[in-house]
Amino acid sequence: MSDLSLNIASDAERLPMTVPALMDRKRSGEPLVMVTCYDYPSARIVEEAGIDLVLVGDTAAMTVLGYDSTVPVTVDELLVLVKAVRRGLRSPLLVGDLPFGSYEISNEQAVATAQRFLKEGGCDVIKLEGGGVMIDRARAIASTGIPVIGHVGLTPQTATAVGGFKAQGRTAERALRVIEDAVALQEAGCCCIVFEAIPASVAEVAMDRIDIPVIGIGAGSGTDGQVLVWHDLLGLYEWGSPRFVKRYAELRPEILGALQSYATEVRAGQFPTSEYTYSIDPAELEELRKLLA
Ligand code: KIV
Repeated sequence: MSDLSLNIASDAERLPMTVPALMDRKRSGEPLVMVTCYDYPSARIVEEAGIDLVLVGDTAAMTVLGYDSTVPVTVDELLVLVKAVRRGLRSPLLVGDLPFGSYEISNEQAVATAQRFLKEGGCDVIKLEGGGVMIDRARAIASTGIPVIGHVGLTPQTATAVGGFKAQGRTAERALRVIEDAVALQEAGCCCIVFEAIPASVAEVAMDRIDIPVIGIGAGSGTDGQVLVWHDLLGLYEWGSPRFVKRYAELRPEILGALQSYATEVRAGQFPTSEYTYSIDPAELEELRKLLA
């Protein structure tokens, strides 16, 4: 049996991921691994797992804040999560997702929001969604020296406009638009692009025209790396996952079982036993009784 852990550098050995290193990884052909993350304890686990990039995605709106889309989440809400993740990370590149309404209005608004993610949140890179006018926003942010990741294909912040949460680029004309946006984002100075929910063969055609690293989610295996959402890959939902999600664990039933056992034991007087209880020297206890008397 091969020991996969032999390939994973220990915390101390691992070099911090950098933006230039993303290009090196593309050239070397070693896939980039990205995952979303939203809190400190999870960030510690991500660090130990040797993940390359961590995205505090606006998916936090749905996965941790309980909104029914990514639209309502604010910069202030996301920054609380970004800071917690920052405190738990050393090596991976930390990417902050600009939420809906925080960058679309003007280049000035986009730069100001991106700066908050770096200054207040400690992000290394920001990500924004979409092509069209967002290409200008990406260019404006990148021109101030802030590394930018673009995001094309399914862009959840504007999912309603593209017909809901479904695969994009499934006609020649729509696929062309996705590819044109990706090329334009590259020309605007993005250091990396996320392809979400597009046919694998469209992603492959696009890859021939893109020189910067591309990270896919539901875009097949031809990209330079993959990203999955924390709650999806760990099976933390009671509902199903999109087609492109592989659930590497089923933690929700584990957590539910643990909570039910805890509740049962407390109600039955079985927890805490002496094993989980502090003691005091009997003489001290006697003294306490005397003092009270
Ligand atoms: O917000 C997010 O989590 C994302 C990923 C799905 C790429 O944008």
